[in-house]
Amino acid sequence: MASRNRSSTSDYSASNYNQTAAFVYSAEYTASILSFLKPSVGERIADFGCGPGELTLRIQEAVGMSGFTIGIDYNNDMISRALANGVRHAYMSDLQNIQIPADMLENSFDAVFSNAVLHWCKQNPRGVLDGAKRLLKVGGRFVCEMGGFMNCIGVRIGLHRAVKRRGYEPDKMDPWYFPTIEEYQGLLESAGFSVNTISLVPRLTPLLDGGLRGWLQLFARRTFLKGFSDQEAAAIIDEVVDMCEVDMKDKEGNWALMYVRLRFLATLDSP
Ligand code: BEZ
Repeated sequence: MASRNRSSTSDYSASNYNQTAAFVYSAEYTASILSFLKPSVGERIADFGCGPGELTLRIQEAVGMSGFTIGIDYNNDMISRALANGVRHAYMSDLQNIQIPADMLENSFDAVFSNAVLHWCKQNPRGVLDGAKRLLKVGGRFVCEMGGFMNCIGVRIGLHRAVKRRGYEPDKMDPWYFPTIEEYQGLLESAGFSVNTISLVPRLTPLLDGGLRGWLQLFARRTFLKGFSDQEAAAIIDEVVDMCEVDMKDKEGNWALMYVRLRFLATLDSP
């Protein structure tokens, strides 16, 4: 196995992301979570895991010039793209251990928003909630959609089997955190939030550009499979694509993946 390289994120660049995973920001897929957020004029809202800024821009527009929106992302390429796309405020930080700039007031935000990101925060999911808590006012909203229990079923099993067959421990390599309702609700409550609504929503997602191979190249090559050489990773990806074909490719050759979204709205209690 090749050595692991945290900075090697080339497959996860903003342009690859926009090409293979544009559906993440589509109006169809984001309408529900934006309707939970209901951003209004004058609000201060932070977007955790803003990516290239598509949704941050929509929130920025909704809060207007009297409001304030900031995008935060772990990937510097995404931050550069978000700023180039017109997001007025964005900075890089690990979401599990948020570093808040000195000039940014703590406990001053009306809402923290996050779409399709927090399932990457497996190491310290509580750290994300502590960060949100530091930013939010009492009564502020934490609105999120992320991968939940049984997300990407089939592909994840395939990856586990393929790496296990090669003698490695898949749980250690698996970067994904797909909690149940009970688990995440418990986490929110123990961090000082009241849960207004939380649900798991299955969503069959067509993989339009590159099928499952493109998806794995974008989302697994530099994460789950980051410790493998290109040759080993290509063999694992071939194996997973082959394994999943029976369930995930239709007669016309179109691929789809079963996403399960965990969606919630919680509010910060008084201390
Ligand atoms: C998701 O949005 O649920 C997701 C995206 C990439 C990898 C795993 C899950």
